[in-house]
Amino acid sequence: MTYLPPIALGVNIDHVATLRQARYRETPDSENAEPSPVEAAVIAEGAGAEGITAHLRMDRRHIQDADIVAIKKAVRTKLNLELGNTHEILQIVLSVKPEDVCLVPESREEVSTEGGLDVAGQLEALKPTVATLQEAGIRVSLFIDPKDSQIDASARLGVEFVELHTGAFANAVGAEKDLELTRLIRGSAQAHAQGLAVNAGHGLNYQNVRAMLELPHLVELNIGHSIISRAVTVGLDAAVREMKVLLCR
Ligand code: PXP
Repeated sequence: MTYLPPIALGVNIDHVATLRQARYRETPDSENAEPSPVEAAVIAEGAGAEGITAHLRMDRRHIQDADIVAIKKAVRTKLNLELGNTHEILQIVLSVKPEDVCLVPESREEVSTEGGLDVAGQLEALKPTVATLQEAGIRVSLFIDPKDSQIDASARLGVEFVELHTGAFANAVGAEKDLELTRLIRGSAQAHAQGLAVNAGHGLNYQNVRAMLELPHLVELNIGHSIISRAVTVGLDAAVREMKVLLCR
């Protein structure tokens, strides 16, 4: 029997900042401003997270510019920054130099990242961004739906990873859920066959995450909302440890 290591866990700490901004939107740097995304990153790593993920959104609704500078300094594993393909955010990300970047679609109206990035439809716009990031020594991931056209386009762009969007799976019920899982399994196999490393995430929680173990070649899951929600009742250290147990193959 071959030993398969556990799936790596990237903890998305955006919602720690969401809670802080609910009270300290005008003064996120004040000494009273809490909770601290940096402290959360350190605790998550201490509990076994293999990476920390954060999204500097154009509207700065949760993570602020100063957060990502401080998080980058504190993180001992690796920092994965999510970003929409805009010049402004790209320049900030280049100055912070995270290990990984995940390009995501971003619109101001959405509550969270809703659909996957349309890589096939935005190939020309994405090319220079991917090249700039890779020239800076940053590994690039594209957050995509598990569709042939998006996987093919991602492979053509020469990125290191894709992150398969698990939101449709998470939201589906009944037979539709099996169908969405099959799409993810096939997408994972196809991406791997095209030389792409495979991550996944969005909408995963303590109830549905074990289904992800069926995805072949899966390297890492990025999970935010459910871990930070669980942390409210059991604490962040315990919440991360509980999730780590579920990721053992
Ligand atoms: N991966 C990506 C690319 C995301 O945009 C998000 C949401 O910020 C996540 C993973 C985490 O999703 P959730 O908070 O639902 O676990």
